[in-house]
Amino acid sequence: MSRWLITGGAGFIGSHLAARLTGTGDRVTVLDNLSTGRLTNLQGLENLRFVEGDLADRALLSELAQEADGIFHLAARVSVPDCIAHWRQGQQDNLIGSMNVFDAACLAGAGRETARPVPVVYASSAAVYGDCGAAMCQEDQAPRPISPYGADKLGVEHQARAFAHVHRLPSFGLRFFNIYGPRQSDDSPYSGVIARFVANLRAGRGHEVLGDGQQSRDFLFVGDAVEGMHRAMSRLQESAPAAEVSNLCTGRSTSLMGLIAALDSATASGPAPVTHNPPRMGDIRFSCGDPTRMTALLGAMPVTPLPEGLAALWAAA
Ligand code: NAD
Ligand code: UD1
Repeated sequence: MSRWLITGGAGFIGSHLAARLTGTGDRVTVLDNLSTGRLTNLQGLENLRFVEGDLADRALLSELAQEADGIFHLAARVSVPDCIAHWRQGQQDNLIGSMNVFDAACLAGAGRETARPVPVVYASSAAVYGDCGAAMCQEDQAPRPISPYGADKLGVEHQARAFAHVHRLPSFGLRFFNIYGPRQSDDSPYSGVIARFVANLRAGRGHEVLGDGQQSRDFLFVGDAVEGMHRAMSRLQESAPAAEVSNLCTGRSTSLMGLIAALDSATASGPAPVTHNPPRMGDIRFSCGDPTRMTALLGAMPVTPLPEGLAALWAAA
């Protein structure tokens, strides 16, 4: 039995990870400030302790890290437009908050017999690349974020490298592409596009497409993302490599108009009306991850086909 700390564990991805880990008998502590997360996401999970708190609380982070065999760091302000509207607070949550987590992992390790920091798997983002043009995004290329969110997530990766160099912190940053599935919040203008489009279909509303709808994303089902995080932690525990980073993606990209068609068919809803409005500032046009390094580091990953994932999301009330 292992003991895990999940920051942001009451959120969309974190709650799926918590279910997976507690389901195999491990003990999980969730730290979350409930800004977007919900306690109902954790309902019914055994071996789980919920602690309401913020990444800014360094003493609390340190205390929780002391009790953990590993940390999954997911807490963040996740929306690109939200980070544009709240630029400094976004940096506080996403960059400084992550530094606090790394610091706590190092402090916790210093008090142990092995004197090794607690390993950290953390959520980076495809947003670190900026616009890759029509090419697949590869880890070797120079990242050029075009939003404060992407810039701060890249800053987190740089910090992870510095913590590895100075304190030997083992970490694995996963550049998540667009994750979707049940429990993703759908009630805010900042919610992810699939969650919003599904909510539109359920409410009998049309979709608002920002731009021409030809922008594309590499959509990954949440269960596959959880598998990737789990494998990344196993890798850290087996070999304790320092500051690794890889994509977490499918290697396939779908345009928004393609997504709308796929949703119509997966949900058997009639074609929903579409209104076009101007594109968002800081929006990426084309996004598709190259899975080569991910596969080399984590092994061949399961990939839920988009129609199957959309059908599962639709079926989950
Ligand atoms: P989410 O909003 O559902 O989860 C984030 C959680 O963090 C929420 O429960 C929120 O209450 C909590 N939180 C936010 N700020 C906090 C703070 N300062 N202190 C404590 N808790 C805080 O979002 P998600 O989609 O589950 O995202 C999880 C992680 O994955 C984030 O780091 C996000 O940047 C990253 N990510 C998500 C996607 C995606 O497509 N969903 C893609 C790339 C990266
Ligand atoms: C998403 C994640 C971000 C992550 C990134 C990785 C969320 C909220 N954001 O950002 O955390 O780091 O993927 O690739 O999960 N759109 C519409 N209509 C809508 C909503 C959105 O047209 O009603 C468009 C947007 O303008 C954008 C695309 O859909 O072009 C995707 O938007 P969104 O789901 O917010 O995701 P990203 O900005 O890609």
